[in-house]
Formats: sequence, structure tokens, C-alpha cells
Amino acid sequence: MDTSGSSLRTHTCGELRAEHAGADATLAGWVDSTRRHGEGLIFIDLRDRFGVTQIVADGDDCSPETLATADGLHGEDVIAVTGPVRRRDGGANPRLATGEIELVARQIRVLNRADHPPFFPTDKDSLPNEELRLRHRALDLRRPPMQRLLALRSRVAQTMRRHLDARGFLEVETPNLCKSTPEGARDFLVPSRLQPGEFYALPQSPQIFKQILMIAGVDRYFQIARCFRDEDPRADRQAEFTQLDLEMSFVRRDDVIALVSDLFREIWRDAAGVDLGDIPVMPYAEALSRFGTDRPDTRFGLELADVSEIVASTGFRVFTGALDAGGVVKAIRVPAGGASLTRKQIDGYAEFVKQFGAGGLPYVKLEQGAFATGVAKFLEPAREALAAALDLEDGDLVVFGADTAKIVHRALGELRLKLARDLNLIPPHGERWDFLWVVDFPLLEYIEELGRWDSLHHPFTAPKPEQAPLLDTDPAAVISDAYDLVVNGSEVAGGSVRIHSPALQERVFGLLGIGPDEARAKFGFLLDALRHGAPPHGGIAVGLDRVVMHLGGTDNIRDVIAFPKTQTGADLMSGAPSAVDPAQLDELHIALKPADRRG
Ligand code: AMO
Ligand code: AMP
Repeated sequence: MDTSGSSLRTHTCGELRAEHAGADATLAGWVDSTRRHGEGLIFIDLRDRFGVTQIVADGDDCSPETLATADGLHGEDVIAVTGPVRRRDGGANPRLATGEIELVARQIRVLNRADHPPFFPTDKDSLPNEELRLRHRALDLRRPPMQRLLALRSRVAQTMRRHLDARGFLEVETPNLCKSTPEGARDFLVPSRLQPGEFYALPQSPQIFKQILMIAGVDRYFQIARCFRDEDPRADRQAEFTQLDLEMSFVRRDDVIALVSDLFREIWRDAAGVDLGDIPVMPYAEALSRFGTDRPDTRFGLELADVSEIVASTGFRVFTGALDAGGVVKAIRVPAGGASLTRKQIDGYAEFVKQFGAGGLPYVKLEQGAFATGVAKFLEPAREALAAALDLEDGDLVVFGADTAKIVHRALGELRLKLARDLNLIPPHGERWDFLWVVDFPLLEYIEELGRWDSLHHPFTAPKPEQAPLLDTDPAAVISDAYDLVVNGSEVAGGSVRIHSPALQERVFGLLGIGPDEARAKFGFLLDALRHGAPPHGGIAVGLDRVVMHLGGTDNIRDVIAFPKTQTGADLMSGAPSAVDPAQLDELHIALKPADRRG
């Protein structure tokens, strides 16, 4: 790495090796620690992003002033040190890349003093609480694990750029002040000063712009784009996040899948030294049926099995009731769960599934060839068929979900993840990368509360060509050309082939309850562009933050964003959001309701 080009130092703190011994060097950085060894001998660990180098201030080699300066140093002071590099007397320190040498201080210049900080970046004993870290983000980002994550993120972004540049993609920026885009979340709004009473929306994604770029003949576009969605943050979700957004002309679904698979293989090879090999493809219906979710974590078993037919004749009213109402009964076999899970724990799981709409969690244990506990008495007649279907062994626990397919999948899908965590079935970070393309999503889902159809992906997603006629007869059955990329149970990318015919786009808007006038008002510019010669096109967006979370081994999205926001959308460092000067509001033609005005 070429780190030359600073006139205040000759090398970084991670650079000096035995071969430099004998030469003079100047290092600059932060005082990590100082150790005093009796009279006239002070060791300083000097730190920067590149590493740590031991400095020795020895009264025999330097002036009394230099020794006094060394003696007066405190943690996080910023200094520059000049002197000869020498091999360490007492042998090398194998834990430091620079451990063969030390820099003998002939001169120490204090470039800046540091106040006693609220926490020390390399204090190994105590990780400061997150609020303190976010408030003093400069100190927090100075911590080596955070520096590694910053470097990782940068590296992933560079790999993305290199990969796409080599394949003919143009990097194009799209506006942040724009018209509302429909990704399904709430918009952040920005008032217009020049057009009183009117608002921009911050983009939820560059979706429509990238489609217009295809119509513009750009052919292959990408952007590392900031997206804004005013929704509640979660462990893997921020209101302001980053996508690698891309779009391609004259492609089919499998072309995008092939390109993005190659990209992920290169990222993982480069950042994790791992060969991902082929990425399997699974239809949405299979993912839902076997794992209860469209983003299955396939690193462990505990799959859902449909036992509706087997239990139909048991006479257990919970099961028959669900089946009579058109629902399903599904089961999860928990190997050896009979012994490892207590009654109390299973009751806890029953409470857990209730938050996903399930009425309860019937269960049985297989003990010495017979069903025991739970609802054993109802299911004993079906024992042999269940044992065969589920591959049961003595000591297993079986839990059931009986309800509409939607509720059973949701409840058992979530329970499956919780069981895997509780039973330690999830391999440690870095051991397994279960990538999976999920395809063949339904185009639409019916939203009871709204009394209309909604897009599963977004309104611009194309139905598979042969499916389009079904739009008129059976919208629920229409399969789309959308795809998601999942790794270890988390969605890291999603995209689709787009509608490129204005008539079909208007037809889909119609199903979504967007009539011709509303379509014109909201998306007229897209409909117009579609009429000016739109090529077939498709694309995808990769959640950059999530990719870095996986590679970096953190489950906190705030760790991979330099300046993230808290659960309440606050930037604790700068204090945003904050009240503004009434004059600014005046200029924007905005009056606050009295109750909303803050102190
Ligand atoms: P989608 O909404 O699926 O698709 O987003 C694509 C990917 O972005 C990531 N992601 C997020 N990451 C962090 N915080 C969030 N709030 C957040 N929301 C989404 C996910 C997701 O897979 N315009 C379409 C893409 C397309 O069709 O090309 C879109 O935005 O990893
Ligand atoms: P009960 O007959 O009410 O004692 O319930 C027997 C078992 O079925 C218990 O394990 C309950 O958790 C479960 N259960 C009860 N009602 C429902 C329901 N509506 N859906 C799913 N499970 C249920």
C-alpha cells in the first residue's frame, strides 16, 4: 500500500520492519499507552490506522527535554517522533506487525494534546455503551474494530466499482431531491423555498431514474446510492442506508442473476478469501413451504413439514378446525428436543408464536416408542404416519402450527429461527455462507385492510411474459420475474425484470388501485418515457450495509455506518434532528402547530 505523501511523517505506524533498522524515520499518530521503566526509560505505543509501533525514549539516547516531553504524554495526545529504527533488544513481539523493531526517540513533537477522553479507543476491558460511542463517534471510530469495518466497507465498495466498470457499467448519479418513489415506506419530505407549499421527497431508491436511464440508452448503469425510508430502525435497517443499485438493458432474469452471482463471488473471494461456488436457486413457494419465509436460513434443519393429511382424521379440534377453515397443519421436528427442552421452555415458545398470530403451540414428545405429553392422546393414532413423515427418533420433540398457511408460515418460520438460536444450531461467523436466490415471487398480494392488490416487490416489476394474461382472470396466481439474494437468512439484494410496455404498466397500476389520473400525476414522466422506445430491462439493488455486516461479523447495522442514527432517528453526535430558527421556517412558508414546537 502506498501511504507516502505526507510531509509530517516518513512512514505509518504499521510500516517499519527489520529491514528499516539503522535508518532514521518519523512517525506520527496517537499515544496509545506509555510505560515507565524506572528512571529515564519510557516506552510509548504509537498508533494510527495502519498499526502500532513501539517508541522508546531513553535518557541515554535523547536530550533531557525529549525525555521530559515523553514523560508528560497522555493517552490520545497526537505526536510526531523522529529517530533511528533499531531491532528490539529483548527479541521481537510477535503480536505486532512492527514487533521486530522500535523507534528510538531523538525528538518528540507534540502536535496536539488530548483531554482525558470519556473512553480510550483501545481499552480492551470495557466496550463503552453505545450511546457514549455514538456521542463521541470520532473516538469510537478510532477503535481498531471500527477501523477494520470502515476499511472493509471501502474495500467492498471498490470491488463493486471495479467489477462493474470492467463489464461496461456507467456510474451515474441520480437526484436526492425528487418526486416520491413508491418502495412502500414513508417518504422523508423536503420543503421547497422557491415553490411555496410544495415538497420534494428524498428517494427511497433510484428505481424510476435507473429505468429512465435504460430508456436513455445508458444500457448498463450502477450507483452506490443513498436511500431514505422513514420507517422504524431495526438491527439490520436504518432510515438512511446505502444500496449498490444497478440496471441492465436487453437482459432476462438469469442474466442479472449471473452477473450479481459473479459480483458476490468476487466480493467474498476478495474480502473473506472464500469461494462461494454456485449459488442455488429456490422458488418462493418452496422457500415459504419449507422454511416459512422468503429469506430462508439454510444453515440448519428444523424444516417445516406439511402434515395436514396425516392429522386430518385425528379428531383434535385445533387441527381439524384449521383444516376445515381451509388452513394447514405443519410440524417441526426438534431432534432430541424431548430431553433438552423443558415444559416451561415449550410454554415460552407457545407465548412466542402467539405474537405472530398463532393460537398456541401443540406439541408431542416421542418417548420409548410412544407419544408423550402435550397433545399425545390425540395424535397417538397418527404416530406411525407422523414418525415416518418426519423421520422421528426416540427423544424427539414435535411442535405444530395449525392455522391459515400465512400464519403457520410466519409463526413456525420465526420459531424455527428462535429454536436454532436457543439450541446453538447456528454456526459461528465465517463458518458458513449459505447464499440462495429466491425466485418466482407472486406479482401481487391482496391486502384485506386496503381492499386492493399490492405489489410484492414494487409496481414496476414485470410478470413472467407467459403469465401476463392471468392478470385479467386470476391476479393472485401471477408469478413475477423478481428475485432476492439471501445469505444466512438475510436479504442482501432484491430486484426484477421491469415492465417496459406502457400498456402493461398502466394495467398493473390499475390493479394496484392507481387510476389513470393518479398514474399520470405520480408517474406521468415514466409513462411518457416508456412511450419513447423503452428497451427490455431489469436490475437489482444490493444492501451495502448488510453485505458489510455479514462480512464483518456484526449484527448491528450501526457498526458498519460511519455516522448512523439511533432507534429514535437521532444523530447523537451532532444532535440532529433539531429545532430550527423561525426565520428559516418563514422562508420555507412553514408554520408549526403550537403543540409540535419544542422548547
Ligand atoms: P429493496 O427495497 O428490496 O429494492 O432494497 C434492496 C436491498 O436494500 C437493502 N435494504 C436496506 N438496508 C438497510 N436498511 C434498510 N432500511 C433497507 N431497506 C432495504 C436490502 C434489500 O435487499 N428499487 C429496488 C431494487 C430493484 O428493484 O432494483 C429496491 O430498492 O438488502
Ligand atoms: P387446548 O385444547 O386448548 O388445551 O390446547 C391444546 C394445545 O393446542 C395447546 O398446546 C395449545 O397451545 C394449542 N392450541 C390451542 N388453541 C390453538 C389454536 N387456535 N391454534 C394452534 N394451537 C392451539
